[in-house]
Amino acid sequence: MVNNGKFIVLEGVDGSGITTQTSLLKKWFTANKNIYGKAYFTKEPTDGPVGSVIRQALAKRLKPLDERVMALLFAADRLDHLYCPNEAEQQGGLSHLLAQGVNVVSDRYYLSSYAYQSLRVDLDWLQQINKHALKPDLTIFLQIPVNASVQRRNDSRFHEELYEKTETLINIRNNYLAIAKKLQAEGENIIIIDGTRDIETVFSDIKKAVMELF
Ligand code: TMP
Repeated sequence: MVNNGKFIVLEGVDGSGITTQTSLLKKWFTANKNIYGKAYFTKEPTDGPVGSVIRQALAKRLKPLDERVMALLFAADRLDHLYCPNEAEQQGGLSHLLAQGVNVVSDRYYLSSYAYQSLRVDLDWLQQINKHALKPDLTIFLQIPVNASVQRRNDSRFHEELYEKTETLINIRNNYLAIAKKLQAEGENIIIIDGTRDIETVFSDIKKAVMELF
């Protein structure tokens, strides 16, 4: 019988380096396929039907949506990603891949919903609407001060998306820390990594945490 693949999530405020670190992890998994097996890399919001609506809302191309509606859309996109087939995953989404022994790495997952949407929506309800989402084997939270996030974002973006105002980012960052600690206390495997250091140093901490899963 094939063992389940490992489900790994990278999290952080906008500009914290998750995308860069995810691409390093992808190269690393490819180079070490014989040891750790296949890995499928993905991100939320997805390119699926619900994810496309979310992307339009983030880019402010839709009328403003209530934050409860955004929370439901993110949760729906997540369940679609986990349980419904798409072109790459064929038979049944990420849950199917994991059951076949493929490792899955996602750039963002429910900790993003908890940190971002709990600014306006209560956390208990957010946890309820996400209760059918599988628990990751490891969540890596890249922690950076908000001024670093704002600087990195200004360097790379032409326009401001929905959650990118500086005051909002401060609150989101504080939420991330508080909620990561709450989930750790509830038994989730979440590690907090100082994302202000150079890319290779941050990556070596990530790699260590990932290797410990196997
Ligand atoms: P990104 O594609 O640049 O990571 O942008 C996605 C944005 O959506 C980012 O601001 C975080 C936000 N987000 C939420 O607010 N809730 C969620 O559940 C997820 C997955 C993302």
